[in-house]
Amino acid sequence: MTMNDGYTIPEVQFGTYQIRGGAGLQQVMEAIKQGYRGLDTATNYDNEGMVGEAIRRSGMPRAHFFVTSKLPGKYHQYDEATMAIQETLYRLGLDYLDLYLIHWPLPKRNHYVEAFQAMIDAQKRGLIRSIGVSNFEPEHLDRLINETGVTPAVNQIEVHPYWNNERMVNEDQKRGIVTEAWSPLGRGSAALKEPVIQDLAKKYDKNAAQIILRWHSQRGVIPVPRSSNLVHQKSNKDIFDFKLTDQEIQAINQLSKPDGRVDGQDPNEYEEFE
Ligand SMILES: NC(=O)c1ccc[n+]([C@@H]2O[C@H](COP(=O)([O-])OP(=O)(O)OC[C@H]3O[C@@H](n4cnc5c(N)ncnc54)[C@H](OP(=O)(O)O)[C@@H]3O)[C@@H](O)[C@H]2O)c1
Repeated sequence: MTMNDGYTIPEVQFGTYQIRGGAGLQQVMEAIKQGYRGLDTATNYDNEGMVGEAIRRSGMPRAHFFVTSKLPGKYHQYDEATMAIQETLYRLGLDYLDLYLIHWPLPKRNHYVEAFQAMIDAQKRGLIRSIGVSNFEPEHLDRLINETGVTPAVNQIEVHPYWNNERMVNEDQKRGIVTEAWSPLGRGSAALKEPVIQDLAKKYDKNAAQIILRWHSQRGVIPVPRSSNLVHQKSNKDIFDFKLTDQEIQAINQLSKPDGRVDGQDPNEYEEFE
């Protein structure tokens, strides 16, 4: 998929939340062998070093990868953000990031605009290719656009069958921002067992996760599934040889519920700040 800054982004990425240490290294190396090139990490996941190590041990050129990391809330102030970007690159052992996101807006602290300005300046210095955000609401997006003149390339938000987030997917689309889905499988939740999903899995001879990931993709959303299981890693990528009908996409949309968020994290309230 092509982003609003002209760079391309892989249509399925690999999530690394809670994948850490030596065991995590083996899992990410396996994911790379399965063909994943988009690797999604964050300073808050405490695994940027491991992700960089997996890239090096793959023996493949760095340019073959699309590496994303995220700025924690405690570093939103301009100078802190500038240093956080540099420290992330040292930990990863890379000299640029493909995509860097503000992890959460923390609107009550009100420093996300200067964080974005630091990212724009790091982009000009070649440290980041594409700059984006995560968990941003329309008013946060508009402040960034109005105050810096730059539209984020990506907004990574919670999307899964119990929280289809239609509102934000449309808001991103209106502004030319690519939506990425975090917890695209609802964190392996009961959604996988929903009869609608199970019936479609039978119809298309796919598994439940593939149906959900294809639903994301046909909505124009890039899923970032995580798996420590090699069989799951492989099948989660194999979603492009069948097509759901519009009615089937709507049927999955209907599973959404008002309290469907995996952890109840409201972007206007939630503060990851250690
Ligand atoms: N920006 C943000 O604020 C934010 C927040 C949360 C997450 N994220 C990112 O999004 C990524 C994904 O979200 P997530 O890790 O919360 O959840 P997820 O990808 O929705 O779900 C992961 C769970 O699903 C299971 N699973 C994966 N493939 C499966 C399959 N084919 N069949 C059955 N179960 C399967 C995994 O178990 P197995 O290991 O056994 O396969 C794991 O327990 C994260 O890793 C992180 O990179 C970002």
